[in-house]
Order: sequence, then C-alpha cells, then structure tokens
Amino acid sequence: MRFRLNRREWMKATATAGAWLLVNSQLLTCRREISQSGAIQQDDFIRLDNNENPYGIAPAAHQAIIEALGESHRYPHHHYRELIQMIAEREGLSPEFIVLGAGSTEIMNMAIMIYGRKGEILTSDPTYFDFIFYAEQAGCSIRRVPVDDQFKIDLKAMAKEINSTTSLIYICNPNNPTGAMVDGRNLRSFCEEASRNSLVFVDEAYHEYVDDTNYSSMVSLVREGRKILITRTFSKIYGLAGLRVGYGLAHPDIIENLKRAEMNFASISYPSLKAAIKAYNDHEFTRQVKEKNKLVKAYLEEKLDQLGYDRIPSQANFVLFQVHRSSKEIAEALKKEKVLTRPFVFGDQNWIRVSIGTLAEIQTFITALAKIS
Ligand SMILES: Cc1ncc(COP(=O)(O)O)c(C=O)c1O
Repeated sequence: MRFRLNRREWMKATATAGAWLLVNSQLLTCRREISQSGAIQQDDFIRLDNNENPYGIAPAAHQAIIEALGESHRYPHHHYRELIQMIAEREGLSPEFIVLGAGSTEIMNMAIMIYGRKGEILTSDPTYFDFIFYAEQAGCSIRRVPVDDQFKIDLKAMAKEINSTTSLIYICNPNNPTGAMVDGRNLRSFCEEASRNSLVFVDEAYHEYVDDTNYSSMVSLVREGRKILITRTFSKIYGLAGLRVGYGLAHPDIIENLKRAEMNFASISYPSLKAAIKAYNDHEFTRQVKEKNKLVKAYLEEKLDQLGYDRIPSQANFVLFQVHRSSKEIAEALKKEKVLTRPFVFGDQNWIRVSIGTLAEIQTFITALAKIS
C-alpha cells in the first residue's frame, strides 16, 4: 500500500479527545446537485464520478430490452418471479429471502424507513454518502465511527458503540468512497454479535469486483437465519445503472417488514427486468469487465504513485487518493479539463475519488491531473 500517513498523524486528524464521533466526512458535491446541473449533461465530459461500468451493457441485455418493448403494455409480475428465482438459486436461498428494488437504493430506503427510524443508526465515517443523505432525510439519528488508520471500517470501535437503541447498523463492504475492504472473518464475527439486537445491513454493491481472498459475502449469515440484510446491484459490474435494478437478501420476516415501506407494487420496468435476467447469466461479460477494471486500476494506481499521490488500496471500481489542496477546487479544475470526479473531506484531509473508466479515459484523467497539479 502506498500511504505515507502514519498512525499518529491519522489518529491526530480523526480521534481528538472525545470529539471523534463528531468528525463526519463530507461529500462536497452530491449526486442530485450534479445531475441537476445542465452543463455536465453534455457528452464530452469523461464521467469518473459515479462508479459506473464504462463498457456499456452486455449485448444480450441490449437485445432483451428491444424485445421487451413489444410486451411493455403488460405489468411485469412474471419477470419479477423469474429474476427472484435465478438469484435464489445462485445464492442457495429460497425465493422468499429475496426482494427486488429499483436499484439497491430502493431497498436501502426501505431499511432506513422500517429499521433506521426505530432507534439509532450506527455506521462508519466515511461511508456511502447517499445512505447518510437518505437517513438524514428520513430524520434518523446517526452515530458514525471513523475508519481505522488503514482506512478500513473499524469494527472493534463500532462494536463498542452499539447500545440498546441501535436499530440499524450499516456496513458498506468494500466501502465507498475508500474502496477498502474488511476481512470476511472479522466481519462475520461482528455481524454474529451485532445482529442479536439490531438489523445489520451489509451493502455489497461492489462485491463482484473484489479480488482479495480474505473477502467474503455475508450471505451465509442470511442462510443461517440471522438478522442480516445484504444488498447488491445491477448498476455496477452488470452495467445497468440507468435501468435501476437491485436486490436484497434477508430472512423472510425481514423481507416482509421491508415491504411495508414499498411505495410501488412493481417499481422495476419490464425492459429493465428482462435486461437484468440476461445480464445475470452473461458470465463472460462480467468476467471481462472485472478483468479490464483490474488492469486499468493497476495502471491508474501506478500513475498516481508516480505523480506522488497517496492512495487507499481499492477492491472496487474506483480509487480514493489524497490531495493537499481543497479537493473541491481540484475537482473543479479537473472539470474544466472535461473530467468529472468526486471531492471528499474526511479526517481533516482532502480526497478525490476517481472511478475506473476505460484505459483511454484514465489516460485523459492522468494527463489532466498532471496538468493541474
Ligand atoms: C455502496 C453503494 N450502494 C448502493 C449504491 C446504489 O446503487 P443502485 O444503483 O443499485 O441504487 C451505490 C451506487 O453508487 C453504492 O456505491
């Protein structure tokens, strides 16, 4: 790992006496702000700000959408069942353990509404900004525990913060925006203990990209009937972000509870379902995407190292690196070079998150970064 901050500096930055729970990360531009800005909808921007799949959608999924248009006068019930059945088989669960949503965001919001509002939410700092955004919008009280000196979610410190009011624990693994992953064995023991009283929600949006053999999904705990919710998405490795399909895995009692917050009996469109069904079985496409992501990420990391930027080792399709000027200004300067990235501040430090685009996109990004540095 290429990181020059030592533990003392990091702890100084984050954990000053008694105040550390108040050190909250900030995403300096939010997704909604960005999508509302007309200028950045132009096509000549290189979009390295949303961790999307830059390789498009699988050809089979593309064809499925076109075919589905002809039947789109029908409600999509049957295809809900078909996708649920496929996911259930792959995960070794029965269909009652699965819920589909218009993106995993829909399921995240159900969890916030049903479990988050019941007591207090416990999560790491930083973590997926939209989760914090939605929880705040829902009026939840949120306790955030800084990541450790390796920028990993500090499970030990989090365990100490669980109390009788903790109703929902959100763990994003690998975490967004850091890309860092927690070891499967440690996460498993944390979840076993924490799920006795609270719902532990493990967001596995980047699950398919992980290479580290110490990683494991927490789906085995769902099979054991523990109070765990896992979400996954078709927006990343499957390349269907614009079609909005995600799923949740949990015990049927939890799924039933979540569905009390469902606002729509069928939020996923018929073409989206058909595309997801095809994409789910296109193993060659996902294998290629994973491979290319790995190669381009290695290239990006090497170039960041050469330019002297400290970065956090990532198990996902983005990299977070530290900058020594205002990250917002750097993101603005990159935007002038037609490259979109995400600025963050946490632990009193400035960071830029860059998604792994195609090799050509990352080359353009590196040229722009070198120019503005
Ligand atoms: C950690 C994490 N969870 C969930 C999502 C949302 O995914 P979806 O498109 O499935 O709503 C994202 C998207 O960037 C993410 O990074």
